[in-house]
Amino acid sequence: FMASIKLPKISELPVLGHPLENAKRAAAYRAVDENLDVYKHRVIGIGSGSTVVYVAQRIGQYLKDDEYRDYVSKFTCVATGYQSKQLIIENGLSYGIIEQYPYVDIAFDGADEIDPNLNLIKGGGACLFQEKLVSTSTKLFIVVADTSKKSYTKLGSRWTQGVPVEVVPVAFARVQHDLLKLLNARTVTLRQGGKSKMGPVVTDNMNFILDACFGDIDDPGTLHQKIKSLVGVVETGLFVDNAYKCYLGDSDGEVHTIV
Ligand code: 5RP
Repeated sequence: FMASIKLPKISELPVLGHPLENAKRAAAYRAVDENLDVYKHRVIGIGSGSTVVYVAQRIGQYLKDDEYRDYVSKFTCVATGYQSKQLIIENGLSYGIIEQYPYVDIAFDGADEIDPNLNLIKGGGACLFQEKLVSTSTKLFIVVADTSKKSYTKLGSRWTQGVPVEVVPVAFARVQHDLLKLLNARTVTLRQGGKSKMGPVVTDNMNFILDACFGDIDDPGTLHQKIKSLVGVVETGLFVDNAYKCYLGDSDGEVHTIV
């Protein structure tokens, strides 16, 4: 006799110790339950950060469920960085490289700030390049976060440490100067805390991160284009016109969406 294994019900989950963790889990589980089509989706993008941990966990629960196992075991998950690759593996899911799976059916990722039009600032964890690669390679891009990520007004009002910009190392001083002089950034700092917590952060693509503060951003699309056109810039943390739906959880487990 084999006991049947069922997907844990969201309403019956044990309360987690930290309120923020409840909020993140609520958003992530709902986002997976409402958007993942186990019968149709085959290539799944898993983003980076602490909220996406619960996305991978939930998909891992589908894999254990007797009803869904045969379908979910055929999934291939692509990652946005090393942490996300680990999440895929830890939850028993199959990992595939984006070079082999350049078209993704659905991707889930967190954000540092979200405006009412679903434009995002991302890159707090320095994974913005691969996050943008995956989020622009997917048919459905779903954002998961706690409610504290919502813009007060415009993008840049809440995430005040600046727009993350990934740069080729040898060009960092030039880009820093251009951001200040040509694009009127208020401050631009080279992100520190890399290897042994000393020196610049080095990304998964062996680049550096500049954090550029612009205050409230009136037109994220135009600012993204302007930054992107500077020599030495690999990618920006402005994600514009790309997300399909955002799930925001609060500590009581309530979830609301921005579409
Ligand atoms: C990493 C990111 C993350 O998705 C973002 O920082 C959100 O992380 P968290 O879910 O831990 O708040 O963009 O580069």
